[in-house]
Amino acid sequence: MKNKKAYILGINGQDGSYLAEYLLSLGYQVFGIVRRHSVAENQQVRIDGIRDKVTIFYGDLLDQSSLEKTLKEVQPDEIYNLAAQSHVRISYDIPQFTVQVNALGVLNLLEAYKNACPNAKFYQASSSEMFGNSIDPDGFQRESTPMHPVSPYGCAKLFAYSIVRNYRHAYKLHATNGILFNHESPRRGSNFVTNKVVKTAVDIKYGFADELIMGNMDSYRDWGHSKDYVRAMHMIINHDVPDEFIVSTMETHSVREMVEYVFNKLNLDPYKYVKQDAKFMRPEELKYLKGDSTKMRSTFGWKPEYTFETLMDDMIDGWEQKYR
Ligand code: GDD
Repeated sequence: MKNKKAYILGINGQDGSYLAEYLLSLGYQVFGIVRRHSVAENQQVRIDGIRDKVTIFYGDLLDQSSLEKTLKEVQPDEIYNLAAQSHVRISYDIPQFTVQVNALGVLNLLEAYKNACPNAKFYQASSSEMFGNSIDPDGFQRESTPMHPVSPYGCAKLFAYSIVRNYRHAYKLHATNGILFNHESPRRGSNFVTNKVVKTAVDIKYGFADELIMGNMDSYRDWGHSKDYVRAMHMIINHDVPDEFIVSTMETHSVREMVEYVFNKLNLDPYKYVKQDAKFMRPEELKYLKGDSTKMRSTFGWKPEYTFETLMDDMIDGWEQKYR
């Protein structure tokens, strides 16, 4: 039987790199799309280990012709859209770019997919940020929870989520949405809160920093491990009917609890080092996320292997290894 072909936008990101490794382990041929940057160094560091096993093309969500050309050439079985301007606070600095990429970019990609390979399956990286501050009375967000996003990023992601559903029904495409809650790993960008905290705490321990400057410490997030979540993406895209699924740990922790856990683990007193600065606050904050992933678990038997503690330990270990 011929190997399946996967086409991954955002292959050099945290999720893209883990997904590529996972699909290679299942025998897939993997094709990745990367954007052109003026500085070539370090752009593809997350896929260094698999660079000779994947085929990379230049492409951009803002350039439909690049997508259509490569989709026609590859004729993939599965398309994963993990590319985005993924930072919520920065979406306030560059709102129009964020909407161009995260909303209109997805429309460009759907058009390219419809024209080039409509029999492929499609996965869109939808986000718990789409819920905004909407919470069901039992304290969870689930597939049926109303979506009222509170950031340019969340608003753009909600458009993308909706247009995927629209194209599914209008053009009979196998187009799916995974609604993923926050997911982290040692490969997380260090301007997201978990990796910023872990990196700075390890820096403090080894004498390379003497303070950690934070934004809002009172928001709550449902943090899982990216490795668990890329397995979920593959299950969602391969479900017999295209649908929406929440992927989450069903637990929530405050930013403060996370900071305390990391510092305590490194035998440091967080309150000797942690300060706050308004520059890391958001004009409107999403305060509380806790996802109900019952549908995902009962449909596929999926469950996360990492807990909050083993996730944070893995990230601490990742930074400590760099110093060692
Ligand atoms: N980044 C950052 N930096 N966040 C901080 C800081 C800081 O210095 N201090 C406090 N926070 C708080 C933020 O205000 C937010 O409440 C929380 O930490 C998490 O922030 P991020 O790690 O930046 O993630 P996010 O929740 O905004 O967005 C992530 O998760 C979404 C899914 O819900 C991103 O991965 C999105 O792309 C993803 O869609």
